[in-house]
Amino acid sequence: MLRACILGTGFAVPDSVLSNSDLEKMVDTSDDWILSRTGISFRRIADQKTAASDLAYLAACSALENAGIKPQQLDMIIVATMTPDMPMPATACLLQHRLNASKAAAFDLNAACTGFIYSLAVAEHFLLSSHYKYILVVGADVLSRVVDYTDRNTCVIFGDGAGAVVLGKDDGEHGILATYLAADGEGSDLLKIPAGGSRYPASAETVARRMHYIQMQGSEIFKFAVRIIPQCAERVLERAGLGIEDVDYLLLHQANIRIIQAAAKKMNIPWENVLVNIDNYGNISAGSIPLILAEAVSENRFKKGDLLLLIGFGAGLTMGAALVRWSR
Ligand code: UT7
Repeated sequence: MLRACILGTGFAVPDSVLSNSDLEKMVDTSDDWILSRTGISFRRIADQKTAASDLAYLAACSALENAGIKPQQLDMIIVATMTPDMPMPATACLLQHRLNASKAAAFDLNAACTGFIYSLAVAEHFLLSSHYKYILVVGADVLSRVVDYTDRNTCVIFGDGAGAVVLGKDDGEHGILATYLAADGEGSDLLKIPAGGSRYPASAETVARRMHYIQMQGSEIFKFAVRIIPQCAERVLERAGLGIEDVDYLLLHQANIRIIQAAAKKMNIPWENVLVNIDNYGNISAGSIPLILAEAVSENRFKKGDLLLLIGFGAGLTMGAALVRWSR
């Protein structure tokens, strides 16, 4: 059976580290509160010269090298991001130019923290239903640009980074076995950046009212996540005719260690099968899942045939899962 498969992975994070003790000096918080309530110790923060396309470029170069694919072989580039370099053109076009990926179509996809899973599913469909051979999917976010560093409810969580995969296709048992995507727009108010679009274009007033920053009802998102993660797992496993006991590794969107723990417990997935890097990077939105995937690959965590369950959730509200039989 023809399947889309991951040929290479890469990631990039800025050098600069923002620690809990740094945040203690910025807002009324403590290392103890942040660590115990989120599992985060450090986040990476981009310098003023670095935008989403810069991190995307570094992650993409690394994924292409890992896959042994030249940029000129790419048929399509999808960048999942909610912090594009600018509203238009798409960050994917900036990346296409920088990579000199001359024959690749390029577009951005905004499904917030679920963006990488959505992009993976879109890429899979293009690979299986067209002549396309190679697609680059990048998740990249520079959340430090949209985080209000006077708001302790949000500023302790988010960081910057990017992850990338090169997808190809193969005939056999390995690759993407199934995907599942869903959305619940009723929750669109729970996590948002209200201004900067056509509803509230940038104005002196929107800036003064801090409407260009992330606003989040954290505990509602928390409950949503713990509720829908097992549902996403069930749907995607059902589509592949597999059960939770078949899963070798769970790669969840890294939003909060307590969400990861509660979801793993609900799904009966042993903790040693759960990948976690939130302590070092915080929540990187669309960059989160490809980053933890690429980091695990760089540590040789997976062997051929391992079953990876990837699940994302976030603003929209959006949710999605992908089941991957590791092929390398
Ligand atoms: O990427 C996908 C989208 N985002 C998420 O998945 C985030 C999901 N939510 C969360 O991770 C958690 O809800 C948070 C970490 C954001 C907040 O943790 P919580 O345990 O849900 O806290 P809470 O919002 O219920 O607030 C509890 C208390 C409040 O004080 P009072 O009203 O009880 O006196 C907050 O003001 O904790 C206070 N608080 C803080 N205290 C110290 C909130 N943030 C902080 C802070 N430091 N940074």
